[in-house]
Amino acid sequence: MTATDTAPHTTATAPLFAPLTIRGVTFRNRIGVSPMCQYACHDGLATDWHLVHLGSRAVGGAGMVIVEATGVEHRGLISPFDMGIYKDDHVEPLTRIAAFVKQQGAVAAIQLAHAGRKGSTRRPWEGGAVVPAAEGGWQTVAPSPMPFRPEDPPPAELSQAEIRQVVDSFVAATRRAQCAGFQVVEIHSAHGYLLHQFLSPLSNFRTDEYGGAFDNRIRIVLDVASAVRAAWPDTLPLFVRLSCTDWVAGGWTIEDSVELARRLKALGVDLIDCSSGGAALQAKIPLAPGYQVPFASAIRKEAGVSTAAVGLITTPEQANRIIESGSADLVLLARESLRDPYFPLHAAQALGAPVQPPVRYGRAFVS
Ligand SMILES: Cc1cc2nc3c(=O)[nH]c(=O)nc-3n(C[C@H](O)[C@H](O)[C@H](O)COP(=O)(O)O)c2cc1C
Repeated sequence: MTATDTAPHTTATAPLFAPLTIRGVTFRNRIGVSPMCQYACHDGLATDWHLVHLGSRAVGGAGMVIVEATGVEHRGLISPFDMGIYKDDHVEPLTRIAAFVKQQGAVAAIQLAHAGRKGSTRRPWEGGAVVPAAEGGWQTVAPSPMPFRPEDPPPAELSQAEIRQVVDSFVAATRRAQCAGFQVVEIHSAHGYLLHQFLSPLSNFRTDEYGGAFDNRIRIVLDVASAVRAAWPDTLPLFVRLSCTDWVAGGWTIEDSVELARRLKALGVDLIDCSSGGAALQAKIPLAPGYQVPFASAIRKEAGVSTAAVGLITTPEQANRIIESGSADLVLLARESLRDPYFPLHAAQALGAPVQPPVRYGRAFVS
């Protein structure tokens, strides 16, 4: 083995640590913390848990930290303990989080969400069943009145006027996100939640202009994206998370995602965050390291828009290869970031990139 074979990557050869600029925002590296519900709120308010949880990952060197799925309406929460951004009281604790994340050199991002028919459920560790009204549960809404699980109560079908209200709720939430100091907004259009429920033929049985043909099923997502883009400053990036396939015959496909990505790019969406699944219980997902990376790669190449890869990305070398190969512009880590909040600092050490811990931690990272 020659010296060159064993030489660690330098900054120039570790693309994972090359900064990225989108609009007026520069990410110090390509590692983002994927949005992760913590089910730790009361009345939708962020708590000290979120400040410490998200703040730790910014301290750990992430280029971006995305706040969990945050409900744009109360009835859009997944569980009663989800984060909300549907009233002005929600802004103050979020402001603290965004400020702290930015102080640590990470980009502060927030995912705006509406759970639709997957709302009003117990927390995962409490079994995830529907919360009855007597215990604070609520009537869910959806494109069509079919429940996600056959045993669940049916959601109410949204009228066209209510669809316009949902779009307005995303806009109001975007304005609050700006007040709180976030630099990136991500629209959650994945995992079988409301916007994805419209996209997928498995959950959208409407016969009006929001259902049926592809152009109709994507209409609400385009409406939300263009209204949010108009409300969000031109200097700040806008992301959309898609489930790039339903993994079910007759469902939403990667070809649909490529076409939707093209349309979203034309509306000023800067990056597609490429996830999958969540629309149907019968989906068979071929879980394997980096199993969703091909979606990020296809959308980046075929729609000409920046992408994030997510899903079973767990090692520095794997993450670096994804960026180096041009499959994605960012990698997002969820569970690995829970296991190791310092993953970016450790990855920099492993790849021979400059390690930049908070100055107060410098003595722990002397090489
Ligand atoms: C605890 C937990 C909470 C999650 N909450 C969200 C969420 O709020 N929004 C979202 O889009 N995805 C959510 N996800 C999915 C992750 O963002 C990510 O896409 C998925 O876990 C795959 O990445 P991983 O293999 O790195 O964990 C969550 C995942 C976990 C483990």
